Amino acid sequence: MDISKIFENNKVWIANKLSVDKDYFINLGKGQSPEVLYIGCSDSRVTAEELMGANPGEVFVHRNIANMVPNTDLNVMSVINYAVSNLKVKHVVICGHYSCGGVKAAMQSEDLGLLNPWLRNIRDVYRLHRVELGSIKDENKKYDRLVELNVQEQCVNVMKTAVVQKAMLEKRITIHGWVWDIHNGNIVDLKIDFDKILEDIRDIYHLSSDK
Ligand code: CO
Repeated sequence: MDISKIFENNKVWIANKLSVDKDYFINLGKGQSPEVLYIGCSDSRVTAEELMGANPGEVFVHRNIANMVPNTDLNVMSVINYAVSNLKVKHVVICGHYSCGGVKAAMQSEDLGLLNPWLRNIRDVYRLHRVELGSIKDENKKYDRLVELNVQEQCVNVMKTAVVQKAMLEKRITIHGWVWDIHNGNIVDLKIDFDKILEDIRDIYHLSSDK
């Protein structure tokens, strides 16, 4: 993409916005109150707002390689904390996608340098679900399933945080696990049974003294 074209596109975009609402940017400058926190992959094909038809101000977005929520990553932890305690989002979405290069790389025995510790988090997901994944003979189906299970485990990581546990107790937040199907454009809700998962892990990760 030609960098100078970006500035031309920007001018056209501004004109389009102002033609509909002359106060568009004045209002945008007043603040934000998004209801959704979206955590997705950095992949250039998986454009967060565009695939959801969302406008500026509607979605708080965090993207990284393979839509990960590592417990020690200050970046994603700050995003979750700010979105839940300050912006008071009502929904936290983890959105993976089929044909994710990050997930694929984690399935291969290759030294990727700095990416090794990041992708090791996906290998941990594989280890947690090795019985199910081991029973899938078709490599592509196994890859798709790992994408889904990775979304599930990152949702669990979201639920491990104190700020989300508090918001869940107050019933003001819902967690969603989605996969975007790159082959047809559909967002697929994995309909993860969080109640069941929580039942299994609550006594391990519970951070409040009142049980
Ligand atoms: Co990806």
